[in-house]
Amino acid sequence: MNVLVTAGPTREPLDAVRFISNRSSGRMGYAVASAAKKAGHCVRLISGPVALPPPKGVRMIRVVTAQDMLDAVLASLAWCDVLVMAAAVADWRPKKPAARKLKKQDGPPRVEWEAAPDILQTIAPLKKPTQVFCGFAAETNDLAREAKRKLRRKNLDAIAANDVSKNNQGFDSIWNALTLYRASGEVRVVPRATKEKCARQVMQMVEEIFVEKKDKKFRKIY
Ligand code: C5P
Repeated sequence: MNVLVTAGPTREPLDAVRFISNRSSGRMGYAVASAAKKAGHCVRLISGPVALPPPKGVRMIRVVTAQDMLDAVLASLAWCDVLVMAAAVADWRPKKPAARKLKKQDGPPRVEWEAAPDILQTIAPLKKPTQVFCGFAAETNDLAREAKRKLRRKNLDAIAANDVSKNNQGFDSIWNALTLYRASGEVRVVPRATKEKCARQVMQMVEEIFVEKKDKKFRKIY
């Protein structure tokens, strides 16, 4: 399969030297890209700014802002069979980032915000019937309800939900614990494990969905 993975945070500029971002380390997405490569797939990894070495044999596409990431995803959309969106993309960005460094003497800046593009929502209408889109949902409350809502709203085939309110897993940790929700209604629990192990489970699930979709198309033709 051709597998497109996004990973890491995005950065949204406030002024010439400052930005707003989040605690994503990129580890989960990098582990998914690595697992996909090891399973024999052709992998492109779109990465926000992280401090990780690129996984071996994976084509790297480096981006900074949510808009950059959207552009990169759109450029590889027709190529991919599977998209795994593990990136923690900004939801909001400063409307008019200052071109120069804001001065301390001028006091706390009043920042006007606007929505950053929602990548999955933007590309949902472009999804081909045989393509598999898998999102991630990092939640602190109502994990199951929020994950299922996002699965429907973003027209996904699956979503991997993780509880980021726990200190020893999720953001910036080598550990994670996932619940995988499929659009078919199937639910799979991946108990606390390394992100590499979690990534293998995610890959196994998307491989299964891809085969099911291909099979369905094949049966329609014959
Ligand atoms: O709505 P929420 O950000 O929690 O949804 C999480 C999923 O949506 C993740 O797969 C994330 O990569 C994706 N997302 C996106 N564009 C955004 C924000 C999140 O594609 N602006």
